[in-house]
Amino acid sequence: MFPYRPHTTVVLAMSVDGKIADFRRSPARFGSRVDKAHLEKQIAAADAVLFGAGTLTAYGTTLTVTDPTLVKLRAQGGKPPQPVHIVTTHSANLNPEIKFFKQPVRRWLLTTTQGAFSWKGRSEFQQILVFETPRREIDIPAALKHLATLHITRLVVLGGGELVASLLELDLIDELWVTVCPLILGGNTAPTPVEGKGFLSDLAPKLQLLEVHTVEQEVFLHYRLQRSAD
Ligand SMILES: NC(=O)c1ccc[n+]([C@@H]2O[C@H](COP(=O)([O-])OP(=O)(O)OC[C@H]3O[C@@H](n4cnc5c(N)ncnc54)[C@H](OP(=O)(O)O)[C@@H]3O)[C@@H](O)[C@H]2O)c1
Repeated sequence: MFPYRPHTTVVLAMSVDGKIADFRRSPARFGSRVDKAHLEKQIAAADAVLFGAGTLTAYGTTLTVTDPTLVKLRAQGGKPPQPVHIVTTHSANLNPEIKFFKQPVRRWLLTTTQGAFSWKGRSEFQQILVFETPRREIDIPAALKHLATLHITRLVVLGGGELVASLLELDLIDELWVTVCPLILGGNTAPTPVEGKGFLSDLAPKLQLLEVHTVEQEVFLHYRLQRSAD
């Protein structure tokens, strides 16, 4: 029997004022080396990572596991050196020239019938997953169910805020790591960890704090989503 979906963990770095990038939506490189190592450790523990088109467009790359200890640990666990990197986008309007398409990772595309059209028969993506709702949106629950059948049991969600909002609205997040970094980005258009329509406070997803680490100037917060059965 397969689990009905992979275990999901969101990992984000945030400014003290709750932004995950500046108002230009620049790649978020404000975390320290410790934060980068933390992110790499989470990625190394995953069978696959998932991110939205906005995140891929901002960075042009994805973070690979390079720490030899982590690579060795994956090998000892019978895992390939890198998790699968899954980008999700309805339009799939991605630039094939970005560095991501040259990185030594398996790349999968989660998209719609229309989005899949221009990438079929090309070498950039090893798999194109099409899961569509009747409204032609990506059917994330069906996609996650499919990933579970492919032995993807741990999925790390790398953002951004739009994708995280969709997953939270569907109650598909299990854990959350947020690194609070010592800067203020401000701006009413700068992205936040959770975009979307938002939740009313009495219906908002509730969290349970699992652990807190402070390393130099950064605070690493680890939460679990509370479910109604808790
Ligand atoms: N600080 C951090 O840790 C961190 C991490 C990640 C990203 N970021 C920052 O966040 C920004 C990008 O975040 P974002 O919120 O704009 O983008 P995002 O969530 O990465 O991407 C949004 C796009 O993903 C696609 N998508 C596919 N399925 C979706 C779904 N179910 N729900 C929502 N979107 C879906 C849509 O693309 P289509 O329109 O093509 O369908 C949508 O426009 C960048 O500035 C980046 O630097 C920061």
